[in-house]
Amino acid sequence: MTTPLAEPRAMARARELGLSVLGTTSPNPAVGAVILDSAGTPVGEGATAPPGGPHAEVTALAQAGERARGGTAVVTLEPCAHTGRTGPCADALIAAGVVRVVIAVPEPTELAGGGADRLRAAGIAVELGVERAEAEDGALAPWLTGVREHRPFVVWKVAATLDGRVAAADGSSRWITGEQARAAVHRLRATCDAVVVGSGTAVTDDPQLTVRDADGRTTGRQPLRVVVDRRGRLAPTARVLDDAAPTHVSRAGTPAELMAELFDRDVRRVLLEGGPTLAAAFLRAGLVDEAVVHLAPTLLGAGPSLVGDLGISTMAGALSFRIVDLLPMGGDVQIRLRPTRHTGGHQHTDGGS
Ligand SMILES: NC(=O)c1ccc[n+]([C@@H]2O[C@H](COP(=O)([O-])OP(=O)(O)OC[C@H]3O[C@@H](n4cnc5c(N)ncnc54)[C@H](OP(=O)(O)O)[C@@H]3O)[C@@H](O)[C@H]2O)c1
Repeated sequence: MTTPLAEPRAMARARELGLSVLGTTSPNPAVGAVILDSAGTPVGEGATAPPGGPHAEVTALAQAGERARGGTAVVTLEPCAHTGRTGPCADALIAAGVVRVVIAVPEPTELAGGGADRLRAAGIAVELGVERAEAEDGALAPWLTGVREHRPFVVWKVAATLDGRVAAADGSSRWITGEQARAAVHRLRATCDAVVVGSGTAVTDDPQLTVRDADGRTTGRQPLRVVVDRRGRLAPTARVLDDAAPTHVSRAGTPAELMAELFDRDVRRVLLEGGPTLAAAFLRAGLVDEAVVHLAPTLLGAGPSLVGDLGISTMAGALSFRIVDLLPMGGDVQIRLRPTRHTGGHQHTDGGS
């Protein structure tokens, strides 16, 4: 007899598994899957492998082996019914003998859709839409934004003083925040397919924009480094052009154009690392889906502010955000926010729709 909590626990774990591979699966969704045996005990788990590798369900089923028979599969996205680079996951679940499949998010594309119907036709009980909002808001958000809006999901990251300065008046900006916050930025980069800065930041700070460990060594898969440099100001010796990671220097005239360029390169999650001018352009275009602000308990009183001119002249026009979470980080604070209203003409909800 399964406990009533077995499935919610498995779904929470499946979401975690999806998050654990965020930034490694694009253009595919970061899905998580857990297999429970007939008694409700977890016997297998999996997450989407990099493109060409097995889907979450297939890895979880392989781990579960015979114990999947008579059991339940808990997945964040409806198992696919089509043969892409890998076979249909719905068929793998049928072959494994599971009797129940619990799904958070229905497959939104026609190409891969029909998995739930195929499972039901094979006599499997299917529950669709379980804790859907949580899953849509988590690891699936970048992919869903891609499906619905044909553009990558954008996370804007900024480090500022208490008075919202991102550099001192003399241009120095290292370091506003402490080690822990800076390490968190490297972890955040690792969850993204591309890291974007404007030419101002590239020229002033000469950042390398790689994912590095505490000892400063570049680690693992590196996101695409992107500099938007419409006037060709980037020096050939810039660190962002070194061979530590791939780099794309873009001449895109607008954030929307840049997003289209990156989408075509299979980028589904972008980390916008500034600076204030480029961030303002993204915010004005309604192209920031999440903000991660690192606030240091310091004051500068002068220097560039964390965002440039947004074209807002009255309180009623203020861009507003909802705080998702707030974490102390060493001596600093991290605030994660989602916009509740864009200036860019379209309303946003947490599901990315
Ligand atoms: N603390 C932090 O988190 C942080 C992060 C980043 C930067 N910063 C600081 O910010 C300062 C640099 O500020 P910034 O505003 O000059 O940097 P920026 O926003 O990185 O660069 C601005 C430049 O981006 C280019 N650009 C490309 N596409 C654009 C678009 N669609 N709209 C507007 N501009 C676009 C423009 O130059 P072209 O027309 O030539 O392309 C523009 O002059 C530095 O002091 C740096 O230290 C701080």
